[in-house]
Amino acid sequence: MSRYAFRAATLILERIERRKVSFDRAFIEVAPSIAPKTHQHLAYEYALNGILYYRAADLLLKREKISSSLRRVCAFRVAFSLLMNKKFGITVDDLKVVSGGLLTGRMLKLLKEIKDITFEDFLKEISPKKVLGVKYAIPDWLIDELLKVMERKELERLLKATLKPVTWARVNTLKSNRKKIAKKIVTLAEIRWDKDYEFMFEIVKGRERVISSSLAKDGFIIIHDKGSTVVVDALSPKVGENILDLASAPGVKTSLIAQMTSDKARILAFDISYNRMREMKNLLRKLNVKNADLTVLDSTKLRMSRRFKKALVDAPCSNTGALSSDPGLRLALRSIVNIDKYANIQYAMLKSAVENLRKGGVIVYSTCSLLPKEGESVVERLEEEYGIVVETDGVLGVPGYRNSRLSSKVRRLFPHINRTTGFFIARIYT
Ligand SMILES: C[S@@+](CC[C@H](N)C(=O)[O-])C[C@H]1O[C@@H](n2cnc3c(N)ncnc32)[C@H](O)[C@@H]1O
Repeated sequence: MSRYAFRAATLILERIERRKVSFDRAFIEVAPSIAPKTHQHLAYEYALNGILYYRAADLLLKREKISSSLRRVCAFRVAFSLLMNKKFGITVDDLKVVSGGLLTGRMLKLLKEIKDITFEDFLKEISPKKVLGVKYAIPDWLIDELLKVMERKELERLLKATLKPVTWARVNTLKSNRKKIAKKIVTLAEIRWDKDYEFMFEIVKGRERVISSSLAKDGFIIIHDKGSTVVVDALSPKVGENILDLASAPGVKTSLIAQMTSDKARILAFDISYNRMREMKNLLRKLNVKNADLTVLDSTKLRMSRRFKKALVDAPCSNTGALSSDPGLRLALRSIVNIDKYANIQYAMLKSAVENLRKGGVIVYSTCSLLPKEGESVVERLEEEYGIVVETDGVLGVPGYRNSRLSSKVRRLFPHINRTTGFFIARIYT
């Protein structure tokens, strides 16, 4: 067992909870300064494991009325998770040695008391109302919201799927082609070509090797979820079109619009974040996208001098659909997120899109959220106030939530059904 890895894992959890950053970002920011290179892989594993058991650890601390600083709570989460997950083969004595004072005496005593309990035993003692959240490390408020729109059994299937993320990648046809990539990638990984999009493939084995390969680093392929491809496909971008992208950074979907049009559409891309736009500029350069104009702007205030035909509004949201790709969200979403605030920004962006499109224009609105407030409800409101027409035929996915009157006219993608990030997609005609 590694003392460095234990400390780094503790600080990674603390950073995610304090700063609401992604798991990967917290890892990159914390691990190199705490753990020597040879211990970093273990730090990653410990931190990931700590997140997956954090709800149970917190419940235990609450039950025993142990309160402490966030850092110590995070250390307890990591320690508890290492005891529960028997694959690590770690004992309380090991934890005492490596914790370097991060675990209090009471915490260590508690760990000793529960050391022979399995996680399954632990779950048996939890009320049925709380068990899903604890088992899958999801905050109660999110479980409650999701149970309003799906059956418990379905929710459990969804949550189970988030524990087995699928890694998707795309051949960047602006720089290479499927044949060339197929030849090169076999030396790195086991892949499966997608049945819906010939440039998409799933990395079955060897994800890390692909990510660190020159294929990815030099932009011949790009790792991104299949859901993003479905969103762009819903817009059906065509050569010669002028397209607005109102929330574009870091540019995954903009670059796919360019790819689908052989870089022969003109894309006006906006984003409010300067830093994310800088990142986007580098990505587009790497992928060889030339026909996109980037502007840092609050797109709810966009006023173009002429009307456009198509717009993509891939709006900011709670990210609740991305639990599989970012395990840190389980912790970052712990405090209740202001969903209404996101819904209002999404609405304002759509309003701006409607005002900048000509009659009969097309908007694709998407969010990587599982919540109806960041999907069906926003489109219902837009329909009432703007008289737009919603129709998402031919787009992959399942209908929206049943309690929406627009259910059959919008799409949702789910990890347990579509093997993608959770997405909401609506095609809107102005
Ligand atoms: C889901 S992300 C977009 C991802 C992007 N479409 C892609 O595929 O890579 C949402 C983006 O909306 C941006 N955003 C948030 N509020 C905005 C606003 N008022 N105007 C423009 N962009 C905004 C955020 O900075 C963030 O980059």
